[in-house]
Order: sequence, then structure tokens, then C-alpha cells
Amino acid sequence: MKKLYKLENINLNYHVSGNDIKVLKNINFVIKRNERVAIVGESGSGKTSLLMLMSGLERPTKGSIFFNNENFSEINEKERTQIRKKKIGLIFQQFYLLPNYTALENVMFPMQINSIDDEKRKASSILSDIGLAHRLNNLPSELSGGEQQRVAIARAISLEPEIILADEPTGNLDRKNTELVSDLLLDYSYKKKISLVLVTHNMTLAKKCDKVIKLLDGHIKV
Ligand SMILES: Nc1ncnc2c1ncn2[C@@H]1O[C@H](COP(=O)(O)OP(=O)(O)OP(=O)(O)O)[C@@H](O)[C@H]1O
Ligand SMILES: [Mg+2]
Repeated sequence: MKKLYKLENINLNYHVSGNDIKVLKNINFVIKRNERVAIVGESGSGKTSLLMLMSGLERPTKGSIFFNNENFSEINEKERTQIRKKKIGLIFQQFYLLPNYTALENVMFPMQINSIDDEKRKASSILSDIGLAHRLNNLPSELSGGEQQRVAIARAISLEPEIILADEPTGNLDRKNTELVSDLLLDYSYKKKISLVLVTHNMTLAKKCDKVIKLLDGHIKV
């Protein structure tokens, strides 16, 4: 299978009040196309930081990140942003939906920015797929937490990314919604052959992925 990501000797330090905090230490791994990877580890172990690097929103102190054989550090900010917008879907624990836009408009919006045709039909079709056909015209404040996260997933999927990076997407949901939302993400990933990196504290969910990476204090625990 072809490589999608390669992380090589990644180190990330933050400089806080005169001290260097070593957040990630010598991280190496590969993610193949159409592979689902769970990242687990205690609070503060560096999971979110790792996703920030993989999305190109943050740059490593040392080491290289290759995405489709392209070295993130050898391309400029504009090119990284293009890759992030077109090829990487981001889902966070907070849903970050636009509060004054309906569910449908929230999913249409990124497609409009990216000049994708037929955005209304596509958005309503994805939202219907994930069980929200009856909520298209509701504002986020009129939706439950699980419904809001499903809208966020629909938004990420709508651009047909090569990979979805999801940071504890079910962290704010109850058990029933956790299962619903995570199964939905996994199903989509299989159906559309979209790779998935899923940060989670939920081991049952992690075990449904093809590979589990355990972070311990910024290291990969083997
Ligand atoms: N911008 C920052 N400046 C300084 N330190 C930071 C910054 N962001 C994160 N850190 C530190 O880096 C470490 C890893 O943080 P990170 O958010 O990656 O952890 P995490 O594994 O996602 O934790 P959680 O499960 O609580 O979300 C923590 O010790 C945190 O305090
Ligand atoms: Mg985190």
C-alpha cells in the first residue's frame, strides 16, 4: 500500500518563560493510504500537538513530515494551507460550526470557498447519509451535541479529503452518541477509502482501527 504520511524523527519543543518544554520526542511512523490509525495516550502526552504538526498548522522543532512524499518543511505556508484545505479534513472536540449558519449552510460553506459545484445537493446528500435529513435548516444551537458533531463530520467529508485528522471527536458526547459518531467516521473512512487518524481515550474505539499508536510523555510507547 502507498504511503500517505511519513514522520521522521519529529521533535516539538515549546518555549515557555525561558524554558524549553519537550512535547514530542523522536516520533517516527508511517500512515498508509486507506489506513485507520488511533492515537491514544494520557492527557498532556502530545496527541493534539501531533495532529497540529500533521495538519501543517504547527511546525516541528526538528524532523520531517512527508505528505504524499512532499516534505512539509520544504514547501511554503501557502502551499501547506492548500494541502490542508484540499486534502486534509480536520475534526476537533469542539465542533467550531458557524453559529448563524444552518446545518446545511455549514456543510455548503467550505465547498463554496473551494468552488465545488452542486454544493447544495452534495451537502444535503451527506447530511441525509448521516441521519440529519430532518435537521438541514436548524442552527447549531438547535442541535444536540451528537448532531453538531455529525455536521462537523459532514463538513470535513464534503471536500473528499485524502485523510481525516480527528481530535477526540467524541470527547463531548454521551455513550450512545460516541458509538454513533465514531462508527459513522469509521464507516465513511472504509466506504470512501479516506485514511483516518483518530485521537481517542476510548480503547474500544481505538481497537476498531487498523493500528494503535500509544503516546507516553511525548514518546511512542512500543
Ligand atoms: N502552545 C503551547 N505552548 C506551550 N506548551 C504547550 C502548548 N501546547 C501544548 N503544550 C504542552 O504540550 C504538552 C502536550 O499537549 P497536548 O495538547 O498535545 O496534549 P494531549 O495529549 O492532546 O492532551 P489532552 O488529552 O489533554 O488533550 C502539554 O504538556 C501541554 O502543556
Ligand atoms: Mg488534546
